[in-house]
Amino acid sequence: MKLFVVLVGLVASSYAKKSCSVPAIPRNVTIFQHDEPIVPGGRLPPPNPASKSDQIVDLVQKLGRTTNWTIVDRIELEGPCGEPEGIVKMGDDRFFVSSGMYTQATMSFGNGTIINGTDRTPGAGQAHMLVFDGKGKRLADAALSSSGDMLYHTGGFDYDGKSIWATIAQYRPNSTAHVVRVDPQTLDADFMFSVDDHEGGIVMDTKTDQVLLLNWGSRNASKWQLDKHCDSSATHIGTSRNPSFYVDYQDCKFLGHPRAYDYRPVMICSGVTALTSTFSIGGIAIVSMDTMTPLDEVPISVVSDAGAAINQNPMDVDVVDGKLRLYLAPDVGNTTVYVLEAQTRSPYEF
Ligand SMILES: *[C@@H]1O[C@H](CO)[C@@H](O)[C@H](O)[C@H]1NC(C)=O
Ligand SMILES: *[C@@H]1O[C@H](CO)[C@@H](O)[C@H](O)[C@H]1NC(C)=O
Ligand SMILES: *[C@@H]1O[C@H](CO)[C@@H](O)[C@H](O)[C@H]1NC(C)=O
Ligand SMILES: *[C@@H]1O[C@H](CO)[C@@H](O)[C@H](O)[C@H]1NC(C)=O
Ligand SMILES: *[C@@H]1O[C@H](CO)[C@@H](O)[C@H](O)[C@H]1NC(C)=O
Ligand SMILES: *[C@@H]1O[C@H](CO)[C@@H](O)[C@H](O)[C@H]1NC(C)=O
Ligand SMILES: *[C@@H]1O[C@H](CO)[C@@H](O)[C@H](O)[C@H]1NC(C)=O
Repeated sequence: MKLFVVLVGLVASSYAKKSCSVPAIPRNVTIFQHDEPIVPGGRLPPPNPASKSDQIVDLVQKLGRTTNWTIVDRIELEGPCGEPEGIVKMGDDRFFVSSGMYTQATMSFGNGTIINGTDRTPGAGQAHMLVFDGKGKRLADAALSSSGDMLYHTGGFDYDGKSIWATIAQYRPNSTAHVVRVDPQTLDADFMFSVDDHEGGIVMDTKTDQVLLLNWGSRNASKWQLDKHCDSSATHIGTSRNPSFYVDYQDCKFLGHPRAYDYRPVMICSGVTALTSTFSIGGIAIVSMDTMTPLDEVPISVVSDAGAAINQNPMDVDVVDGKLRLYLAPDVGNTTVYVLEAQTRSPYEF
């Protein structure tokens, strides 16, 4: 009986492997430092946010409006970096940064005109994944789209311990996107699935094999179930409206199914909203992946040396010496990773 089950299992798994192939994305990798591996030590470290989930939730719950955010480090990334929208701090000595390099700006159709569901011309550019060491030295550049592709806008990044998950979309609302998975050691990229919307933020729930995508302005989150046998296809399982207009989330990370939130899936997100042409507000939030409800949120008023709201572009999070640290790269062109540490807050703010 046992032997029978094992045999059936073997047949099923070999059948699944045979019936499924994940298409590779033609990519163009440039290595800048031939004596340094893209991932040090030849082993992928666990993702910082998801592996420190309970600790991060606990530290975020201690933040408030009076939290003293201190810039403890500025890591200048060897440029140019285009528009960075996703960042993964892998272990202690690597940054993977998504970069949109634009060659032609999009242009509004004007006067509220909508054509094919969207409001502007496609523009042109190329999607890149850049790799830096912990001091900002440029190690590699993988172009993940060809020049001329209409899908060239890279969004957020999430790292699940094996792959970096990313979106590449047209650079206009209500358009199209695809989800890609990149091997951090080789920068080989797989095409996972296509979506009929612009998608930016991406979060991979490793416990359920579900991918959450955030569309233009993070107004909607759609959830996709990856196929267990063939992970290059996915089924749409639902869309939740984002009820919070406080900031538009730019980059989020899977934060596990923490105890503090009844073991339900949550993510940590960062973003910014321009309320008027001169007034932006930024912040971070822990957000329910079931409902998009913010479970904890705090504003951050720090600005970069170039004057950008610090939460404008990508964010990763880690705990160093028991303190919460955010890794933010707000500026476009030549960018710096600002390392913010949450220090103190007023004891009256609970
Ligand atoms: C690959 O990238 C290099 C460096 O950016 C560039 O010189 C080369 O033309 C690219 N090749 C293709 C086929 O796009
Ligand atoms: C904030 O942190 C900095 C650096 O540790 C310190 O110099 C400053 O006094 C702190 N401010 C408050 C209000 O705690
Ligand atoms: C914009 O559309 C309105 C209403 O259709 C029209 O009255 C106006 O002339 C248009 N303006 C321009 C600049 O095309
Ligand atoms: C709208 O979509 C149609 C069909 O895909 C296409 O032929 C047309 O060029 C599109 N129009 C614009 C302005 O992009
Ligand atoms: C998106 O575009 C489709 C047509 O492609 C249109 O039917 C739909 O109303 C648009 N949705 C929004 C939110 O603009
Ligand atoms: C959000 O999703 C709902 C349901 O699919 C859809 O009706 C709505 O147009 C979407 N809104 C935006 C801004 O994408
Ligand atoms: C970026 O920095 C380099 C020097 O590192 C400089 O040559 C270049 O002009 C800068 N580019 C921008 C857009 O500031």
